[in-house]
Amino acid sequence: MPLDPSLAPTPPMGFNTWNRFGGNINERLIEETIDAMVEQGLPALGYDYLNIDDGWMAPARDDKGQLTPDPDRFPGGIARLAERAHAAGLKLGIYSCCGYQTCMRLPASYGHEHDDAELFASWGVDYLKQDWCRVPYDEFPGKTHREVAQILYGRISQAIVDTGHPMVLSMCNWGDGEPWLWAQGTAHLWRTTPDIADLYRKPEEGGAWDLVRIFRQNSQLSAYGGVGGWNDPDMLEVGNGGMSDLEYRSHFALWCLMAAPLLIGSDLRQMSEATRAILSNRDLIAIDQDSLGHQAEVREEGDGVFTLSKRLNGGQRALGVFNSTDLAQTVAVDWAALAGPGAHRLREVWRGGEDTVSGRSLIEVPAHATKVWRTLAGA
Ligand code: GLA
Repeated sequence: MPLDPSLAPTPPMGFNTWNRFGGNINERLIEETIDAMVEQGLPALGYDYLNIDDGWMAPARDDKGQLTPDPDRFPGGIARLAERAHAAGLKLGIYSCCGYQTCMRLPASYGHEHDDAELFASWGVDYLKQDWCRVPYDEFPGKTHREVAQILYGRISQAIVDTGHPMVLSMCNWGDGEPWLWAQGTAHLWRTTPDIADLYRKPEEGGAWDLVRIFRQNSQLSAYGGVGGWNDPDMLEVGNGGMSDLEYRSHFALWCLMAAPLLIGSDLRQMSEATRAILSNRDLIAIDQDSLGHQAEVREEGDGVFTLSKRLNGGQRALGVFNSTDLAQTVAVDWAALAGPGAHRLREVWRGGEDTVSGRSLIEVPAHATKVWRTLAGA
């Protein structure tokens, strides 16, 4: 039986500990983040998951073979945090891994899938991110990475279904085995790339994946994500300091155009005004969360300038122009090709002004910037 797709009718939104805190997490951070999310009004904007990533479990299973929270860092346990999140109108997410150990070499779910799913359900957990480190490929001789992922994610997925407890499943095998081709029904979201780095563009090739590289990979996959199962180009770095605010505006705008999960990865207890303004842009959130669930198609790519068009409910569209180059560009935007013939009334997302356009316009786009418009009913 497949997972219940109605748990992710739109891309999940919330917060995850990893990008900012890595394994350096504890229950106080989680409690303070619950409070901060509420104080910042994030649940009302749609950010309702608080996801604990790697680093929550004790270094060994207990004498009954169960995973157990680290006694020093999570002495009150996970169930109490889930209760506290629920009381604040939030949902709680947790992390495990398909292999013997997590990426931090803590105990993980291989051979324990049903036990772990039962345990998470008994704690009231609403979301599970299942990673892909320390996978015992040698126990599956002759099988490809895709086949092993289908078996192991299939097991945890079934284990979740068997608990009868609603839980979103986030698959995190970094695009290995092209999960977008087969993971719909197994998971509610699947990573399409290796881990994001808090960098706009790295000076040299190789190593960590920067924003431009992640965008290039994920934007090619618009045929696959959709209602109930989403392409996941990894969590947001907005607010973490490795990019300029203009680059973070591009990051957020591109993720929203791509109907990506929006998991904030910065410290919500000390959010700058600029970060708050980016993460709470209602037009962009509405574009991301549009009920049709379409991912923008990249219509043109010339010399590092991308134009994107995303179908929205009610015959509307979101349009974007991303100038990935290091120089300002004047871009000829063909509104007819992007949004259909005739005149279109548009609202520009960052500026807020409205315009009526038709035919082609020349648009100035600063280096690294993304301009976004949405069409409005009635030309
Ligand atoms: C992998 C995942 C990350 C994070 C870490 C935790 O690298 O892709 O998102 O969960 O593991 O160790």
